[in-house]
Amino acid sequence: MARIKALPTEVSSRYYPFDYFAPIDWEQVFGITSPIEIELGAGDGSFLIQYAEQNPQLKLLGIERLLGRIRKIDRKAHKSGITNLRLLRIEAGYFLKYLLKEQSVRAVHVYFPDPWPKKRHQKNRLINSTFVYQCKRILEPSGHVYLRTDHIEYFEQMKTVFADSPDFEFQDTPISLQTIKTDFETGFNQQGIQTQHATYRLIAGT
Ligand SMILES: C[S@@+](CC[C@H](N)C(=O)[O-])C[C@H]1O[C@@H](n2cnc3c(N)ncnc32)[C@H](O)[C@@H]1O
Repeated sequence: MARIKALPTEVSSRYYPFDYFAPIDWEQVFGITSPIEIELGAGDGSFLIQYAEQNPQLKLLGIERLLGRIRKIDRKAHKSGITNLRLLRIEAGYFLKYLLKEQSVRAVHVYFPDPWPKKRHQKNRLINSTFVYQCKRILEPSGHVYLRTDHIEYFEQMKTVFADSPDFEFQDTPISLQTIKTDFETGFNQQGIQTQHATYRLIAGT
């Protein structure tokens, strides 16, 4: 009989919602409702861990679909002693659409989302007009979306869908964020592949 591997008892950062069909109540998760920031497709957590350490005043939720990666981030979070990070294993599109209330998040970070380079797979890309619509819905006034990719054509798509929206304006990415490299970014840069950054601010009152 297959044995189910027990989760480590010292797990501190993981968060399992009781209800996958109701929007998350931040008060229950963090004890406060703002400022909350999320990362979609957190990978091994290289961004989240550093960002959480540098910004203890923020509450961060990392979204990742792979359990092994969630566990890895959780181990790192436990080691570094950070207390302002939670993790959720879920599909990012579903999470955005169904688990976030309106105006409930200060920033959305998406770094090196899967580029789906084949034409027939491009419908699977996370950053599209639906993503822009959901960001407008969930962001607090003047909230930000931070994007990075190594894929030039996907970067063009990101810029186009945000430029098509009257609700967002392009901004330079703050140096304090640029200096936090993700694992994928470090890998690309070491191979001499340039990485692209873009930041969009929700125009208040739209
Ligand atoms: C290319 S990696 C980038 C990881 C990290 N952001 C970085 O820059 O190092 C993309 C990550 O997104 C996760 N991912 C891809 N599609 C996803 C989805 N629809 N929902 C949640 N996670 C997803 C993958 O499992 C993977 O860990």
